[in-house]
Amino acid sequence: MAENFYITTPLYYVNDAPHIGHAYTTVAADVISRYRRLKGHDVHFLTGTDEHGQKVFRAAEKRGMGAQEHVDDLVQRFVALWGRLDITHDDFIRTTEPRHKRVVQTVLQRLYDRGEIHKESYAGWYSTSEERYWTDKDVVVGPDGTKLCPTSGLPVEWIEEENYFFKMGAYADRLRAWVQEHPDWIRPEARRNELLGALKKDIGDLCITRPKSRLPWGIPIPWDDDYVTYVWFDALLNYISAVGFTADDEAFAHRWPANFQLLGKDILTTHTIYWGTMLFALGLTPADCLYAHGWWTVEGRKMSKSVGNVVDPNLLVDAYGSDSVRYVLMAEKAFGADGDFSHKGFQLRYNADLANKIGNLANRALTMTTNWLGGVVPELGPATEQDQALAAEVASAVAEYDKAVEALQYHEAVEALLRVAVAGNEYIQVQEPWALNKDGQTERLAGVLRRSLEICRVTATLLLPLCPGKGADLLTRMGITTATLESIDSLDGLTVGQALTVGEPLFPRMKDLPAAIAEALAQVEGGTKTGGDAPSKNKKKSRKAEPKQPITVDDFGKVELKAGRIVSAAPHPDAERLLVLQVDLGEASPRQIVAGIASRYGSEAVVGQSVIVVANLLPADLRGVESQGMLLAAGAKAVLGLATLSEDVPPGTVIR
Ligand code: MSP
Repeated sequence: MAENFYITTPLYYVNDAPHIGHAYTTVAADVISRYRRLKGHDVHFLTGTDEHGQKVFRAAEKRGMGAQEHVDDLVQRFVALWGRLDITHDDFIRTTEPRHKRVVQTVLQRLYDRGEIHKESYAGWYSTSEERYWTDKDVVVGPDGTKLCPTSGLPVEWIEEENYFFKMGAYADRLRAWVQEHPDWIRPEARRNELLGALKKDIGDLCITRPKSRLPWGIPIPWDDDYVTYVWFDALLNYISAVGFTADDEAFAHRWPANFQLLGKDILTTHTIYWGTMLFALGLTPADCLYAHGWWTVEGRKMSKSVGNVVDPNLLVDAYGSDSVRYVLMAEKAFGADGDFSHKGFQLRYNADLANKIGNLANRALTMTTNWLGGVVPELGPATEQDQALAAEVASAVAEYDKAVEALQYHEAVEALLRVAVAGNEYIQVQEPWALNKDGQTERLAGVLRRSLEICRVTATLLLPLCPGKGADLLTRMGITTATLESIDSLDGLTVGQALTVGEPLFPRMKDLPAAIAEALAQVEGGTKTGGDAPSKNKKKSRKAEPKQPITVDDFGKVELKAGRIVSAAPHPDAERLLVLQVDLGEASPRQIVAGIASRYGSEAVVGQSVIVVANLLPADLRGVESQGMLLAAGAKAVLGLATLSEDVPPGTVIR
């Protein structure tokens, strides 16, 4: 029977727009799932959405919609994104589905009947934004004395009410022992130590209900109509409700415990202390490994709605394609560590690895075989010592890849994959097939190109979990339509005589940032002023924040506006955002104006346009290029449109 493999991602809050943090975990789960399927394992990959709670309820109210209607609409964003990122989850669970709600209620009733749940009066600082209580010690005191939630920074409210509690504290010792006895339960090590630290303190009991009067959008407690379940108690149960707990014992026994539960470092406590003790109370074993990954910052800053730098993965897929996005997310940082996402970094990584190493190898091997050996897979011929060394290097890199993916060390898997491609490129460099071809050494030429093609096969196969589209594309060019790990660690897997297709470059080099990305970056960085360089972050803030003071007609009269015609345009040599324009203002020679419009317009698009120019600005040096004026354009942050003239008036015409 095929080996079983069950992996889960957190359930994403349906209210939030999907961002790269969500994409990251889901892609990571997909990579190992695809790899396990290649191994022939029986994979079950679960993801989904967390749909109850105050925030969802309020957002629905704001939209004038029923909560269910609201979540039915919002969930589509996740479903669509996973489709676009080629995610191959086997199940998508929503906490509002009857199959989940039934299990939550069964669990609650079971624990209640067993005396694991009791009612108590409770008082504490309640944070509506986080839907949880904080103690006096937890809350932060704001400058005006207001008590604030330590997570959201929003005011908390002192609430005294009766609620139901799960006897979490009763399982504290068991949990401590579990962590000690299962060194791989929590990964990476630093997170395990963090948990051990947290477990030194009393973990207390867990308040698992909210009065319906305050929070109507939740799963009702079966024995008391006045309460609904706390969102975390509800959501965590998805990992077992989705695989048949209390509904299909056989299916459940087949899947649980999961091999891996992936989560971000911020939700470690809920997944270890809450979830671990819930499982103990139900007589179940925790998953083999809970892997808490690090967080992404974006362009050096914490990702946040207020900064406006939340990266929409859809934008990335539009601009770079799903394969490249998946690859870069996995390659850029260790799974457990924090890391920074930047578009420049993306481009560098793409070009260095995918274009220069993998794309180059594929192109060379396929083109040379086509040009010199009739475009079919040639014979291996006898192996030289160097050929044997090459085979050994590939076998060792493949083993390293396997170890890395199995340990969720995706960046190391990428390194192992690149080791294979680099070995192939170096082999070609050293063996000089062009010289063999020139000297008419056809048999050796065949041997060398065959091995180069074999390396392409291994590379393409190892690429499959990361970049399923490009991996399959490269294999197809060598006549392989069904991928397999058979012969993955040998250089003898292709079929002699199989026709090859060279095709378009697999990973064409990326010269500039795609226009949509440049535009998005400009939005984050600000800088609408078309005749100026990007202002510093502080300056930008004050420009946005300060309303302009009224001015007199005389003040306005100081500005000399003229009609200009753009006669030529070129990219700035040192700033992607800028174009260097030559603008005819009816003067002896055109003026050079440096404009920050490259995020929206290419050079060709603006030539011939009749524009409005501030003609009496003092010249300014913009990254080493002199600008003798400024164009007007619309857009508070990014350039949304050039201010142009409806009539083709002569250059130099005064505008007032
Ligand atoms: N709904 C809960 C989880 C319930 S699981 C039963 C939740 N949802 S979430 O949508 O807020 O977060 C989902 C995941 O996104 C978490 O693992 C979190 O760590 C991750 N990320 C949120 N921001 C992130 C980054 N900036 N970088 C990487 N991952 C991040 O919590």
